[in-house]
Amino acid sequence: MNSPRPRLFSSSPEVRLVGLSGAMRLVEEDIASAARSDAKVLLTGETGVGKELVAHAIHQRSIRANGPMITVNCAGLPDSLLESELFGHARGSFTGAYRDKPGLLEMAPKGTVFLDEVGEMSIRMQVVLLRFLETGEIQRVGADRSHTRVDVRLITATNRDLQVQIAAGAFREDLYFRLNVIRLQIPPLRERAEDIPLIAEHYLDSFSARHRVARSPFSPAAMEALVSYRWPGNVRELKNVLERVVLKSNGQPIQPSDLPSEVFRSLAQSARGAEPAASASHEPSTAEVLAAKMMQGGESFWSAVYPLFMARDITRADLRGVILIGLRHTNGNYRLLTQVFNMPETNYKRFLSFLRKHECHLPFQRFRVAPAQMPATPPVKAAVGH
Ligand SMILES: Nc1ncnc2c1ncn2[C@@H]1O[C@H](COP(=O)(O)OP(=O)(O)OP(=O)(O)O)[C@@H](O)[C@H]1O
Ligand SMILES: [Mg+2]
Repeated sequence: MNSPRPRLFSSSPEVRLVGLSGAMRLVEEDIASAARSDAKVLLTGETGVGKELVAHAIHQRSIRANGPMITVNCAGLPDSLLESELFGHARGSFTGAYRDKPGLLEMAPKGTVFLDEVGEMSIRMQVVLLRFLETGEIQRVGADRSHTRVDVRLITATNRDLQVQIAAGAFREDLYFRLNVIRLQIPPLRERAEDIPLIAEHYLDSFSARHRVARSPFSPAAMEALVSYRWPGNVRELKNVLERVVLKSNGQPIQPSDLPSEVFRSLAQSARGAEPAASASHEPSTAEVLAAKMMQGGESFWSAVYPLFMARDITRADLRGVILIGLRHTNGNYRLLTQVFNMPETNYKRFLSFLRKHECHLPFQRFRVAPAQMPATPPVKAAVGH
């Protein structure tokens, strides 16, 4: 019990909830109505959706704004320590308890206590919390009667489904009813995808300023990748990705290949979803995205494809897919392919030996189709001799 005191206070971040989607507007309305009342609030939603941010917003917009806000993470502490942190302890209640110590609930008079990850609390702690909620009285660990009453507002949060926890016997239903007076459910980021560009621009600005780097704009394809990705870690994940992107940026527009591979791949998946079913089954979607970056976006093979392949971010099948698409456009002409993939003519040999070395040199004969069978899309540039 003499271990260093865990960090339980979270300094108030500047509460700025970015987002203009219908879902975020509803969250803003819920925050406003929760701030007008003094009832307990239960915040639910996946990890990283902004539950803690919303808790701060409610506190800061409530009449308790001038009082303290104390955050306690229920998952971070062993049971006995959590109880003594919340309720305090009496002198002599355990070895090393040399004097009475107030708990955090007593240290937030006329303020707000935010119990984060409340779904992780043990059943025994749930009973202790329930007793406090019923009486409003604090009983310090080791004391034989209640010590004082406190005036705090309780906000709790969890990313667990408490109904499931209740059914499994891991969460007390009576406690759930106590906590769930105002329920505020924050939807995952993928269900409010129109907020992604706003949040991305917001963090691009703030990280560029913080790290003192020139702000690089997003290319349309990079933004499309951000919007089509599922973001299992929600806003926290998006924020982390942007910090990494900013740290690597060089003032040039941010390309999909500057994004983590799982984000970048989502672009390929969405491209596959958007294309006609007839062709969808043939070509690997990552290949189509890369081909488009070169053939429509003007990027060079050496910057759009080569580094991804060498870093094993794309597979040999992806690379073959890229070559396949290109050869379809050039009617099987490799020399023309260097032009289509935006390489100087002098790179022709280097390009071919790279493809051969990695077994991606596809036989060109199969693309030499008779004019009548030519694909509907005309070659990108006029064919020249092979
Ligand atoms: N709408 C938003 N606008 C700007 N930043 C946001 C928004 N929502 C969340 N964030 C930021 O994303 C990060 C994660 O938010 P927060 O910690 O509130 O999530 P959480 O739901 O409490 O996650 P967990 O369940 O993992 O504890 C924080 O840095 C927060 O500032
Ligand atoms: Mg949290």
